Amino acid sequence: MSHSAISDVLAGKYQLDSKVTLKGWVRTVRANPNFAFINLHDGSCFDPIQIVVDNTLNNYNEISKLTTACSLSVTGTLVESKGKGQSFEVQAEEVDIIGLVEDPDTYPMAPKRHSVEYLREHAHLRPRTNLIGAATRIRNCLSHAIHNYFYENGFQWIATPLITASDCEGAGEMFRVSTLDAVNPPLKDDGRADFSQDFFGKEAFLTVSGQLNVETYACALSKVYTFGPTFRAENSNTSRHLAEFWMVEPELAFADLAAVAQCAEDMLKYVFKAVLKERMDDLEFFDLRVQKGVIERLQKLVDTDFVRMDYTDAIDILQKSGKKFEFPVDWGVDLSSEHERYLAEEHVGAPIILQNYPKDIKSFYMRLNDDGKTVAAMDVLAPGIGEIIGGSQREDRLDVLDSRMEEVGLNPQDYYWYRDLRRYGSVPHGGFGLGFERLVAYVTGIQNVRDVIPFPRTPNSAPF
Ligand code: 4AD
Repeated sequence: MSHSAISDVLAGKYQLDSKVTLKGWVRTVRANPNFAFINLHDGSCFDPIQIVVDNTLNNYNEISKLTTACSLSVTGTLVESKGKGQSFEVQAEEVDIIGLVEDPDTYPMAPKRHSVEYLREHAHLRPRTNLIGAATRIRNCLSHAIHNYFYENGFQWIATPLITASDCEGAGEMFRVSTLDAVNPPLKDDGRADFSQDFFGKEAFLTVSGQLNVETYACALSKVYTFGPTFRAENSNTSRHLAEFWMVEPELAFADLAAVAQCAEDMLKYVFKAVLKERMDDLEFFDLRVQKGVIERLQKLVDTDFVRMDYTDAIDILQKSGKKFEFPVDWGVDLSSEHERYLAEEHVGAPIILQNYPKDIKSFYMRLNDDGKTVAAMDVLAPGIGEIIGGSQREDRLDVLDSRMEEVGLNPQDYYWYRDLRRYGSVPHGGFGLGFERLVAYVTGIQNVRDVIPFPRTPNSAPF
């Protein structure tokens, strides 16, 4: 017999007195000789549903001894609940025990609050907790909202490759993909590994960004985006960095930096609205248990204009702030998170789109401004987390691109395909990258991106 999702039952999709079958796991059981009250959840929504069982059921004795995580199929009548905070419960007529917990004392996910560090050590069982369940549903809602935003606005979704030969960000933080013997690779005359004998006939890596590839499609289909996993071998053991993370990267042809910045603002507001509409149950949990004020923060962002600010003005503000920063501020430095937070949280109190960075701290593909010193780059800094988006208008002039490549030591021949986009009908274009885990962390108030991705990969940690 087919069964119903608890989310549908609690949302009132079934009439009172109708018969329903539910399948899920026990959260808690309270039992006396006459009645048992079981909280059953199936992950479809935040709340469990209460199942009332009376001792006329022939397996009542077994039911009354159930423990957390046992799996059940319950058939019964939907009735109004007299309990506080819930409208429906099920008066059970049949309870089939699908799977027992054989040794309840050793079950690592007892229904109490566990530290996030403890949960990370039990990556295979942590999806059963309120915290990870709610973060997973929010993540799902946000990813659908992102696809919907682009679909409704005429963007094509492009599957960019995970295996690539180009280092988009030029930071040398690439994981090598190789089938060569790691200990004794074939060697060239100069004693270095001979990658011409490798699987792809040359060095290959996991992508750090789909941008360069997606630009080729933007220069044909106008509005495109890629959304998938990206990999960075940066040894940053922080709460904002993962070795494997997901990135959303739109790319717009016939667009300048202002158009790219507007797209970033519109997309963020669209997805915040969607999550406020669809996942209030989970957001209420985060607001209550994880970070007070996350709902208000999202509501405010939907109604606030993001502030545009030039990098040069930001440096001025930081220098005049009178604050003692750990890292000193001078024109030309890359801002660190303490600076970003000061600007977004204390100085402006709203998201900032910081623009026109010094060219020497940014990537080769960003469009050089007329001052010859800065590039048309932007970062979106959100109060409470710092940078969640990085983007730019791309260099569309072949001669300028070539000299930038030379400056940073890239061989233009390796990028012949990227240069061709500038040789054959070049257009102003640009885009950005949104770190998806940073977005989920921001929406939920969860402090560490390791707790918003199902299986976090970080230095010294890739257990299974
Ligand atoms: O600023 P980034 O490096 O930009 C790019 O990769 C561009 N190619 C994007 C583009 O223009 N299409 O990274 C973009 C975003 C950052 O703002 C941050 O949110 C996230 O990716 N990010 C990370 N998230 C988690 N772990 C890491 N190690 C991250 N590195 C960057």
